Amino acid sequence: MGETKEIGEFDGEKEEEAVIYKYIFGFVEMAAVKCAIELNIAEAIESHHDAAITLSQLSSALNCEASMLHRIMRFLTRCNIFRQVSTTTHDGEPAYSNTPLSRLLIKKSDGSMAALFMLESSPVMVASWHNLSARVRANGTSSFEKAHGKDVWAYAQASAEHSELINEAMACDARRVMREIVEHCREAFEGVGSVVDVGGGNGTAMRVLATACPWLRCINFDVPHVVSAAPEMEGVEHVGGDMFVSVPKADAAFLMWVLHDWGDEECIGILKRCREAVGEKGRLIIAEAVIEEGQGTMKEEGKKLKDVGLMLDMVMMAHTNIGKERTEREWEYVIKEAGFTTLSLRHIPSSVKSLIIAFP
Ligand SMILES: C[S@@+](CC[C@H](N)C(=O)[O-])C[C@H]1O[C@@H](n2cnc3c(N)ncnc32)[C@H](O)[C@@H]1O
Repeated sequence: MGETKEIGEFDGEKEEEAVIYKYIFGFVEMAAVKCAIELNIAEAIESHHDAAITLSQLSSALNCEASMLHRIMRFLTRCNIFRQVSTTTHDGEPAYSNTPLSRLLIKKSDGSMAALFMLESSPVMVASWHNLSARVRANGTSSFEKAHGKDVWAYAQASAEHSELINEAMACDARRVMREIVEHCREAFEGVGSVVDVGGGNGTAMRVLATACPWLRCINFDVPHVVSAAPEMEGVEHVGGDMFVSVPKADAAFLMWVLHDWGDEECIGILKRCREAVGEKGRLIIAEAVIEEGQGTMKEEGKKLKDVGLMLDMVMMAHTNIGKERTEREWEYVIKEAGFTTLSLRHIPSSVKSLIIAFP
């Protein structure tokens, strides 16, 4: 009979030691990728005329110390962020090319995730992770408030720099997700003449939607200091206000990565304001992660991003006072309490988010 192993038991010699080192130095990968973004390494490789760039070419393009850059590139090629390629023309000098991963770090590229990376690795956001255990204790203070004396939204209101970091980070994610939504889930907006994006940040989601569906009237609704800094966009009307007080009227209320910032009571309040805004014939469209209960039955693609959903739940614990990721049952509870009845759920391809559509 085969031996049974407990979770956390390993076969190989000292395998557990290697695994725990990965956690001990978990921040190293984040720091090295951040360094690559700040130095514009992916941009320099992309703009080089040959497929690969040698270490000396890269260090002179970036004005960096070659031996230091070599160490960063040795680590990041090992992590498969960049690729090291063999060249015969440069005396065995290492040469590098971009990969699909490093192209996500190019700031001005279409599907860039650099801005989200810069927000999450910023000293302001990282500081709150040091207070996670204090948060978990009974009546523990919120991690972010313990670090900064106010919640993340009050902090953003007081710091234009941090507000911009948040808005740019959300915009780079919104650009990617909205493209998937308009390509694969466009029927969510069928029969709708107007949409209000509640907590829409700088309006990026509505810009993608208005471009794909020019017949839609798109309203981007957020707090006044966010919409006043938002760029003008064709087909998008910016409206400032407070979603806890009222939401502009439209056929559909769209909420992406907003409700997970709040507790059930606040979500029900926001959704009641959305219910008033869309009236009897309107609809609610939510783009959020849906956490699996138990062992789960997710399809393959969903499984790859399952860990990201659970990580996001930790992010909510560290960065918001009462936010959390929710299971399907927990979503159903807040949505129905706010006065919506029928509900359907759709996975958004290549995204940690699903689309939840509900009607009064
Ligand atoms: C995590 S961001 C999501 C942004 C956007 N929906 C996206 O996914 O790119 C949450 C947004 O909620 C907005 N927000 C927070 N409190 C609000 C309030 N009381 N009324 C309206 N918007 C609010 C924030 O300013 C921020 O833009």
